[in-house]
Amino acid sequence: MGESIIEQMDALHAQCAECTKCGLSGTRRNVVFGEGNPESPLMIIGEGPGQNEDATGRPFVGRAGALLDEALAACRISRKHIFIGNVIKCRACITENGRTRNRPPATDEIVTCTPWLEKQIEIMKPLVILCLGAPSAKFVIKKEFKMTQERGIFYPTRYAKYAIAALHPAYILRQMGQTYDGGKSLLIADIEAARKKVVEVKKEPKLDLF
Ligand code: URA
Repeated sequence: MGESIIEQMDALHAQCAECTKCGLSGTRRNVVFGEGNPESPLMIIGEGPGQNEDATGRPFVGRAGALLDEALAACRISRKHIFIGNVIKCRACITENGRTRNRPPATDEIVTCTPWLEKQIEIMKPLVILCLGAPSAKFVIKKEFKMTQERGIFYPTRYAKYAIAALHPAYILRQMGQTYDGGKSLLIADIEAARKKVVEVKKEPKLDLF
């Protein structure tokens, strides 16, 4: 008998934790491999770790993570039901005048890192992928993905039968104002759409029985 999905993911995690394929390995504190249930039909893919994630080794544990948890809870989803990963596994940051801040991942960092994500997807075989933010949607759905026009729509992809993109919680936090929710209701609607799609697909009769 082959290894279980959990064993395969654990083995990949151990390898990934030692990765030195790009310069981010020199500045990271922890590799943020991703966590949750690798047997879940739903995989959420963010952009990459920030300061809190780098410090803890866990995805989405800062303010953006709190917003994501709130949106998941609104759809009656808890982290143990799903797997949450990222396009890149180490924090991309820049230090200026003694201050370190996050920066978007560079193309070469994405190219170097995404074989890890591809292996995670290969092990999980999720039915539905929910991409948080443009870098994730550009990787999973299509290079020229436009978040404002194309979020909330299901696409067939090579990684999952259905993929959908939502606004990144960190972006929503930056947009939030006294009279505007920053797009939080859209995030909840897109998570709910992903949840419903999983339920719907699970009910589809299986034609590939053999
Ligand atoms: N933002 C992301 O895209 N991923 C994390 O893990 C945390 C913040």
